[in-house]
Amino acid sequence: MLADLRSKYPLHNYERSALIMRDLRVVKSQTEIELTKKACAITKDAFERVLKFTKPGVTEYEIEAEIIHEFTRQRATGHAYNPIIASGKNAIVLHYIDNNQVCNDGDVILFDFGAEYANYNADMSRSIPVNGRFTKRQRDVYDAVLRVMKAAKEMLVEGTIWNEYHDEVGKVMTDELIGLGLLTRHDVEKQDPKIPAYKKYFMHGTSHHLGLDVHDFASRYKPFEVGNILTCEPGIYIPAEGLGIRLENNILITKGGNVDLMADIPLEAEHIEEIMNS
Ligand code: GLY
Ligand code: MN
Ligand code: MN
Repeated sequence: MLADLRSKYPLHNYERSALIMRDLRVVKSQTEIELTKKACAITKDAFERVLKFTKPGVTEYEIEAEIIHEFTRQRATGHAYNPIIASGKNAIVLHYIDNNQVCNDGDVILFDFGAEYANYNADMSRSIPVNGRFTKRQRDVYDAVLRVMKAAKEMLVEGTIWNEYHDEVGKVMTDELIGLGLLTRHDVEKQDPKIPAYKKYFMHGTSHHLGLDVHDFASRYKPFEVGNILTCEPGIYIPAEGLGIRLENNILITKGGNVDLMADIPLEAEHIEEIMNS
């Protein structure tokens, strides 16, 4: 394309815009924040619709239909990315988008979906019990992921460095995995620091920038700044138990702290169960 442009328009100078765009896109204007909030609000309504709809025997694609119904009704441009509706062991497959299975009594469904509104994206994950009640084990794993999310959120502030953040979240996750009996102290002592033991159960990053792209363009070396919007999305995936739980909210960094743009989307396990059983 560049050779073509140069030959067609030889009098122009050509320089890369990527480095300029990288720093511009990462700090959101008030209008961009408002559009992201709208995408989050539509995503919330779709999730609440799904909470009321889900019961044993429904299919993943019927749930997908509920989501797009709510998105279209509220003039979202569509899905921000291929939605994941992964019941039971399907949740172990990180990019499961087949969404073609029956949701069975006793399983947890992992959702990862978000609305796109005026080119801005929401990116939400939730994990809910098909029958409206978590088992003791599901609840223990859920609460572990939620504690990691809360700890990670505290670190999403101005000045935080990408790598240090991910290392710190890894430590919190390691403790939770020991608490769940999935790792031992011995596993951690003998771990290769380049591939920490927790990666066996949490094999993706905790955060990425969000904006015009779901995985928005940003420097990994620049500390977080006021106006950044990042996801916060820890998860624990246990193939042997057919269980995968991820929770994901979208966080705006502000002066002296942050604002959770999904603070009003049901998250606590009791709240999820209450809505499902109401
Ligand atoms: N939905 C894609 C992601 O969470 O990164
Ligand atoms: Mn996501
Ligand atoms: Mn994400």
